[in-house]
Amino acid sequence: MKNLFVDQTVDKIGETVELYGWVDSKRDHKKIVFIDLRDRTGTVQVVGGENFKEISTEDVIWVKGIVKKRPEKLINRKIKTGEIELETKEIKILSKAKPLPIPVNTEGYDIDEEIRLKYRYLDLRRPRMFRNLFLKSKTVTFIRNYLTKRDFLEIETPILTKTTPEGARDFLVPSRLQKGKFYALPQSPQQYKQLLMVAGIERYFQIARCFRDEDPRADRAYGEFTQLDLEMSFVDQNDILTLTEDLFTQLVKEVFPEKHFTQTPWPRLSHKFVKEKYGTDKPDLRKNKKDPDELAFSWTIDFPLFTEQSEEDYFYGSGKAKFAPSHHMFTAPNPDDIPLLNKDPLKVRGLQHDLVLNGYEVGGGSIRIHQSEVQNKVFELIGFTEEQKKQFNHMLEAFSYGVPPHGGIAPGIDRFLMAALGEPSVREVIAFPASSGGKISIMDAPSEAGEEQLRELGIKLR
Ligand code: AMO
Repeated sequence: MKNLFVDQTVDKIGETVELYGWVDSKRDHKKIVFIDLRDRTGTVQVVGGENFKEISTEDVIWVKGIVKKRPEKLINRKIKTGEIELETKEIKILSKAKPLPIPVNTEGYDIDEEIRLKYRYLDLRRPRMFRNLFLKSKTVTFIRNYLTKRDFLEIETPILTKTTPEGARDFLVPSRLQKGKFYALPQSPQQYKQLLMVAGIERYFQIARCFRDEDPRADRAYGEFTQLDLEMSFVDQNDILTLTEDLFTQLVKEVFPEKHFTQTPWPRLSHKFVKEKYGTDKPDLRKNKKDPDELAFSWTIDFPLFTEQSEEDYFYGSGKAKFAPSHHMFTAPNPDDIPLLNKDPLKVRGLQHDLVLNGYEVGGGSIRIHQSEVQNKVFELIGFTEEQKKQFNHMLEAFSYGVPPHGGIAPGIDRFLMAALGEPSVREVIAFPASSGGKISIMDAPSEAGEEQLRELGIKLR
């Protein structure tokens, strides 16, 4: 196993070391030839001569040599290993590289995204992309440690399941054993996490993959993305906001130490206030929008429980009913406003909370309805037919066996990272995102199914 990363060579002056990596660049001065050897931690200058003749950029090599301090005037302060270089004793090419279709030693923003995604395994070689994946891994590890220390259980919920309306189209998977029936991939683990509260888990979280068939945007991945999904029993809204705020504050301190907050504690602003003052429910409250390290977190609360229904709310009444849930149909009304459910539903405030960062909605959640009369009333107002209501009988039934008051939140991991790192799109923090048209270019997915497969599934293409 390789036992030394490039950035560790600075501590090895005078020692003979072995390095593995890619040839980032080569400079040929005839008698003396330099290469920059790259691994995930950076580059180091390697000095050779005739023995570098066969080497070209992006070849994978092994090199053995002595770490030497560079003369003062040749020190490169721009890189971590700029004070040293490796004097080659032996070198081996482990694998040759053809000329790459895209450069990988630039930031890459100017390269056509379709091409970057087609060659994603090369695109990810760029240091910026490695840094993003590295920080994502650190973020998830931090979250796991933080929550498990506070008595949360990490629990997996099914991917092959039934529709979980979060406002997008579902992905359907045909069932072979029950021909003519379909699973839906979860848009979020919303119903399962609520059922886990009925089960007495009390504190649940999951780094959960969510699937939504909706048009991609800069801050919205097509197909799938990752949430920190969490749910707690016996809490009020303040408990959820306080826990989330502490989690993200500690996370930023540990994983993004160069960042600073515009304001702490984070402002909690009513939906009415932010709409009137900023014209949006996710205001960008940064003092200096040019400062890449400024993080302006805020909460938006007191959302109306319902909005007017439009054609796009196709899952609900498809525009046939008057109201659509402004978050989702399990969000509880503010108890003070319950009488208004009959009189003036648009005036009812919901116990919804959105977590906002630098103008992006990075999380959403709520206190949930735990009384079946209220749930039934909401179903009615959003125009559910008896048939549609039946799809949620399992929830109503579960809630009839003793359900704790509960609530939670789901910050989007990809969107949080995009906002925190100032990246222009969520695709910059996802290893293999879908491109426009929902294609995974590397694999050429989706692809056609064989006739035999379709026959087994009882499917005939029209
Ligand atoms: P919601 O639908 O608001 O709530 O989603 C929560 C958060 O998930 C992220 N997100 C996305 N990120 C990338 N690409 C997407 N297509 C995408 N869609 C959503 C956002 C968003 O704020 N079940 C509820 C949560 C709850 O009530 O606890 C839910 O999923 O950051």
